[in-house]
Amino acid sequence: MKISLSVNGTQHSLEIEPRVTLLDALRDRLKLTGSKKGCDHGQCGACTVMVNGRRVNSCLSLAVMHEDDEITTIEGIGTPDELARLQQNFVECDGYQCGYCTPGQIVSAKAAIEEAKAGWPSYVSPTLADMGELDDEEIAERMSGNLCRCSAYPGIRQAIAKTAK
Ligand code: FES
Repeated sequence: MKISLSVNGTQHSLEIEPRVTLLDALRDRLKLTGSKKGCDHGQCGACTVMVNGRRVNSCLSLAVMHEDDEITTIEGIGTPDELARLQQNFVECDGYQCGYCTPGQIVSAKAAIEEAKAGWPSYVSPTLADMGELDDEEIAERMSGNLCRCSAYPGIRQAIAKTAK
């Protein structure tokens, strides 16, 4: 079937089978290979993109479901020549090791910071009144959907805390 996807502000027309995931459409059809396929079943977060500002595991979602959505991938955050502040902080804080999970971590971190600033509760801060700074525990909870097999978590959390200030 024919669909139109808006990714990072650009409209793309695609002829696609209904069974194709958003992740495969982004990577294989649009050649936006920043989003990674780790587990391909919703457990690692390497494929995280934002759909209308909310985090989505793109391996679990079908491309045909997103015709009217605005999709943001890692390619829509900063550029190689001009990193976003969050990306720069990942570099400065060593928030990565092998780098495979990094695109998903950064997309997720961007959404997590925006969610916290908007007062969205978490298990650590169940109500708005509980919400203090984005401390280590709060960040760990809000980023719990993104795994790093190299265990670069301290640097990842530091980069997010620095960006959220
Ligand atoms: Fe989608 Fe792991 S590849 S959650």
